[in-house]
Amino acid sequence: MIRMISFEGGDGSGKTTQINLLAKHLTTQGNNCLLTREPGGTTLGKLIRRVVVESTEEKIEYHSELFLYLADRAQHVCKVIQPTIQSDRLLLCDRFTDSTLAYQGYGRGVDLALLRRMNQLASGGIEPDLTFLLTCPVEVALPRAIQRIDRQKSGGSREDRFESEDLEFHERVRKGFLELAQAEPGRFVILDASPPILEIHEEIKKIVDQKLREP
Ligand code: TMP
Repeated sequence: MIRMISFEGGDGSGKTTQINLLAKHLTTQGNNCLLTREPGGTTLGKLIRRVVVESTEEKIEYHSELFLYLADRAQHVCKVIQPTIQSDRLLLCDRFTDSTLAYQGYGRGVDLALLRRMNQLASGGIEPDLTFLLTCPVEVALPRAIQRIDRQKSGGSREDRFESEDLEFHERVRKGFLELAQAEPGRFVILDASPPILEIHEEIKKIVDQKLREP
């Protein structure tokens, strides 16, 4: 029985679009599911999200950034993830522990073994049963992310801190995600994010529907 599905990928990979479509599909099928995200899945998390994803005058140090994501996760696990899983609702999470390994580990260079222990503390040992990794070349993903930021900016948002990182950073993150996925083929499904949105959605639907039928 699957209890938690996470979606991972670099900025502009289309994972948020896909997780929204999946939530809609599952709800239409009569499944009781909850869609949440990191950072930003709790009241505290929303405050942390503003701090970590908006550009600021003062540079956020790598370790400060890491602790902010972990604080977001610890709160999210206690307030949302654990209660949802215990109540037998299916939880869909837009980013989870793998993002910390990919961004802070492969991207920023923080020691992976240390990050795994910190993730363990923040997540209480909870792991997704299934993780979709949406991946495509950085040259394709980043312009999409930047377009999204431009749209959001007209609504007053300033969520552009990560997209302004250099291409090498995003490339390290992309490779990191792939390495994580290849190391755990039982949990990860790697999907090419370049085909049309509905084509990818069909594939995700098929996999999830099949998993939900399994005892
Ligand atoms: P989002 O735009 O996909 O919601 O993600 C916000 C940003 O936060 C994205 O650039 C990735 C970053 N992030 C980390 O660096 N580490 C983490 O642990 C998480 C959850 C997100």
